[in-house]
Amino acid sequence: MNNYEYCVPTDIRFGKGQVECLSKEIGKIGKKVLLVYGGGSIKKTGLYDKIYEVLKDYEIHELSGIEPNPRLASVKKGAELCKKYGIDVVLAVGGGSSIDASKHIACSAFYDGDPWDLVLDKTKVTKALPIFTVLTICATGSEMNPGAVISNEETKEKLEINHPFLYPTLSVCDPTYMYSLPKMQTAAGTADIVSHIFEQYFQPNDGAFITDRLSEAALKTCFKYGPIAINDPQNYEARSNLMWTSSIALNHLFTFGKGGAWSVHPIEHELSAFYDITHGVGLAILTPAWMRYVLSADTVKRFAMYARNVWDVQKEDDYEAAKTGIDLTEQFFIDMGLPGTLSEIGLDDSQFELMAAEAVRTSGLSTRSYVKLSAEDVVQIYKNCL
Ligand code: NZQ
Ligand code: ZN
Repeated sequence: MNNYEYCVPTDIRFGKGQVECLSKEIGKIGKKVLLVYGGGSIKKTGLYDKIYEVLKDYEIHELSGIEPNPRLASVKKGAELCKKYGIDVVLAVGGGSSIDASKHIACSAFYDGDPWDLVLDKTKVTKALPIFTVLTICATGSEMNPGAVISNEETKEKLEINHPFLYPTLSVCDPTYMYSLPKMQTAAGTADIVSHIFEQYFQPNDGAFITDRLSEAALKTCFKYGPIAINDPQNYEARSNLMWTSSIALNHLFTFGKGGAWSVHPIEHELSAFYDITHGVGLAILTPAWMRYVLSADTVKRFAMYARNVWDVQKEDDYEAAKTGIDLTEQFFIDMGLPGTLSEIGLDDSQFELMAAEAVRTSGLSTRSYVKLSAEDVVQIYKNCL
């Protein structure tokens, strides 16, 4: 196992009714709260009213309308509100988009220049307001990690800012808040969780046995409970297992003792930057194509191990086992109702070269990923998804 540093300071409050803790816990810090949320789902479900009831003694300012694939313009508005009202705590209620915007707002509140500077150079992050979250869709793991992915609508860049100051202080994870999720969001969220595990599982492994076995258990959890949550949205067992899996899938537990750069996420981030598509949808389309593209004599053992340990594939030949595992993965996404090709979501090949160049430029794809990929490789993967 490689040397590894592991410190996850987020206080997780998991289960029904945990939102009640916000009054006491935020009270330890201050009274002025910036409530950050998306397009209104929390109003429809009644969670918005519940937040106001729990925080009745607090001064609440609001930033609503956070876009899926949150934009820099929203971050700028949020940072201004923090400065104007002397905000003590940023409270994100929603999914990865509201949480990520809140993280970027929390550090931009202490920065006088353009918040995009902090994305490009994290040494400029000197401080951040405490971030609290109430999770309503499980997918990104943002509730328990220090990353935030922000889109710059002017430059068409979608980049991550990652800094230890951006771990949420506390996250409320109540699975019942996901009962209202549309099927497509449940499917896309599950695809995102699965992809996060893949990104860490498909890496060289010098003896991190425990990390691989934990990853396989998490993958099995997604493959079992994703379809149940889609067909039976109020199934607490399914929602709760998926919710906890999403948190641990991206709090570095599954990369413990390993390393390397991610492969499919940088390729997908260009799709959502250029076309504003749902992140999990892009991942579901790209993942089987990436797997087929990188399957080789060097990687076949790990793909066969995945097929046997996660899907119980019995084939003795490694290539046959690996290919079956990839086919089953693709079928899983399709069975959840996710599109299988880029053409299905209306994309053509007109931006492939540009997106591929950006994906390689802004990530470790060509230097540190499981199988190193050039821009030409990435173009071919996009083409294989048409
Ligand atoms: O905006 P509202 O009205 O709330 O509706 C949202 C949104 O349309 C809806 N929704 C959420 N909870 C709901 C609900 N609808 C009904 N009932 C509920 N309980 O779902 C839609 C998607 O929400 P969003 O927050 O965008 O989803 P997600 O959590 O998948 O976040 C996606 C963003 O996170 C980034 C992605 O790139 C994308 O920008 N990521 C963040 C990461 C991180 N911080 O670590 C890592 C990921 O790999 C990812 O890149
Ligand atoms: Zn993701």
